[in-house]
Amino acid sequence: MVEEDWRRVDDYIAAALISKDEAQEETLAKNARENLPAIDVSPPQGKLLHLLASAIGAKRVLEIGTLGGYSTIWLARAVGENGKVVTFEVDPRHAEVARANIAREGMSARVDLRVGPALDMLPQLEAERAGSFDFAFIDADKPNNAAYFAYALKLSRPGALIIVDNVVREGAVADPSKTDGGALGARALFDAVAAEGRVEATAVQTVGAKGWDGFLIARVR
Ligand code: SAH
Ligand code: DHB
Ligand code: MG
Repeated sequence: MVEEDWRRVDDYIAAALISKDEAQEETLAKNARENLPAIDVSPPQGKLLHLLASAIGAKRVLEIGTLGGYSTIWLARAVGENGKVVTFEVDPRHAEVARANIAREGMSARVDLRVGPALDMLPQLEAERAGSFDFAFIDADKPNNAAYFAYALKLSRPGALIIVDNVVREGAVADPSKTDGGALGARALFDAVAAEGRVEATAVQTVGAKGWDGFLIARVR
């Protein structure tokens, strides 16, 4: 199987199981018009995040890496009217597009979008005692994944889920000859999670419209 087949199956899954209302076609179209990189989670992955957050009744979600708000909106729909998604984005242009998408989807009241480097702003979130998140989705600059994971853990309640995107990277995670920042960041994340007694975790490989990659999924004890 090749990427084209993976995409065809993702399209099949989306056509069968993701309704027009859920699909956020206009969000993806606006991102494309604004020349944002097409590195959002895929529709089946976005719905997976939504289902997992819904399944644990998440009301407070932490997201690192907003881009155009596609994953943010899937998560905002899961937290309900009184819930909140705090999401960090370093690029003001991405954040501006995200704000417009979030507003169009009627999710502005549920989303607290903060613009700047996440590692500089997470201490502030901690100081606000805005913690006790039920769910975290980490999807920003990959070299910082272990640091983001440590913050997500610190800010999460027992039973919370922490999900990290792009941890397989076409197999680079398990290929010692690959030493780019993404591969090193993924291995550092696995090492940190393996050494962390406060979580139980796994990772699942995925193929689809976004190629060969995977999620790490951890549950706070
Ligand atoms: N979660 C989004 C995709 C995020 S893409 C979705 O699935 O729809 C990664 C995003 O992380 C990009 O928009 C990038 O600008 C942002 N990013 C990169 N470095 C960052 C940093 N240090 N702090 C916050 N955001 C960062
Ligand atoms: C990249 C980032 C992502 O979050 C992703 O899902 C795919 C690619 C990137 O930076 O290239
Ligand atoms: Mg990603």
